[in-house]
Amino acid sequence: MVTRAELPPPVGSRLRHWLPFTQMSGFDVRTRTFVRGRGTMLTDAAGAHVFDAISSVWTTIHGHGHPHIVEAIARQAAVLDHATALGATNPLADELAERLCALTSLDVAFFASDGASAIEAALKMAIQYWQACGEPQRVKFVHLRDSYHGDTAGAMAVSDIAAFRARFAPIFVESVCYDDAPDALARDDVAAIVFEPRLQAAAGMRIVAAERYAGMRAPHRPLLIADEIATGFGRTGTMFAYEALALAPDLVCLGKGISGGTLALSAVLATQRIYDAFLSAPEANRQFFHGHSYAGNPIACAAALASLDLFAAEHTLAHVAELDAAMDGLLAPLTAHPRVADVRRAGLMAGIEITAPARRVADDLYARGQFTRPIGQTVQLVPPLSSTREEIAAFVAAFVDVLDRAG
Ligand SMILES: Cc1ncc(COP(=O)(O)O)c(C=O)c1O
Repeated sequence: MVTRAELPPPVGSRLRHWLPFTQMSGFDVRTRTFVRGRGTMLTDAAGAHVFDAISSVWTTIHGHGHPHIVEAIARQAAVLDHATALGATNPLADELAERLCALTSLDVAFFASDGASAIEAALKMAIQYWQACGEPQRVKFVHLRDSYHGDTAGAMAVSDIAAFRARFAPIFVESVCYDDAPDALARDDVAAIVFEPRLQAAAGMRIVAAERYAGMRAPHRPLLIADEIATGFGRTGTMFAYEALALAPDLVCLGKGISGGTLALSAVLATQRIYDAFLSAPEANRQFFHGHSYAGNPIACAAALASLDLFAAEHTLAHVAELDAAMDGLLAPLTAHPRVADVRRAGLMAGIEITAPARRVADDLYARGQFTRPIGQTVQLVPPLSSTREEIAAFVAAFVDVLDRAG
């Protein structure tokens, strides 16, 4: 255990790096300056080794620095670092599209960069799809209560986040909350409903009851957009969370774990019906009007392909199933703790809602070698899929100790 007193003083009093969702006035560079990652562990500049209990915000899948992914990245960087996807392609992106479609019920893959850029692409795809179908009035969206889909304008508009709405409403498109108005799906001006399948991670690992999705199915016309950016790639137990819901989405957004958690890459998978609506003679200008500089980047795609290899080679989903079966038992000391109000979990995505001050608890956990980040009063445990029972048990033991000492 490393205490703050043992850490060296900050390097310089002023950091020029402005961090996302971080109050910089209180940021202490003595902790959380990460210099190395191996397996489930991160090492900070002061030499402390911490368990990455949030998979670096739900990105890391097989652990940090996995040699198979590292080699794939290095090999590809030496062959072709980047070439635009605007009117061109590369074999890595083509193969990844092929393999992602084979894993899902979808037919084509459109690549973007971060999760939010996949959401933006999906929203625009829905609008342009309806224009192609002769229903240009379908420009509005429907979202679920407590939803979160990212920080860009369209993604914020379909997120039920009060802090976004209060600050940025002037740049929102119109989106209706499904829970307030389930009839909205029958309206003829709605392009799509966007939802997180099974679990709303940013809302504090809220489990969404399967019944809430039941009413979204046909015969409604709006497209179904499944946001698998947090839940995709095995985190909830199945490769994709929507598989458990008997829903057939028209568009599926992927991000975060798609590259194994190594490089910025995201994708929108679409059905043939959507794709076909964009086909025309070149003069008709029906091509999709969206694209990012690094879409289909071959190095990121090589990482993603290597990550998919590892799912097979390391039997990742079978390992997750074993951990999943053990999780209730492993979490039991927290579930029973008097300072724990609720434990919510789907697969390896868990939220532990506590009554003690959550930020201080997270700081104390860091000092005990456990890196997590609270969402309000909910402390997250979303470990890399390669984690062991012992690592999760150690996280729980440290957490119980911190809670026992919390005033
Ligand atoms: C469900 C969901 N959608 C979209 C996003 C946005 O992804 P990114 O941060 O990569 O833009 C997130 C990020 O946490 C997410 O949890």
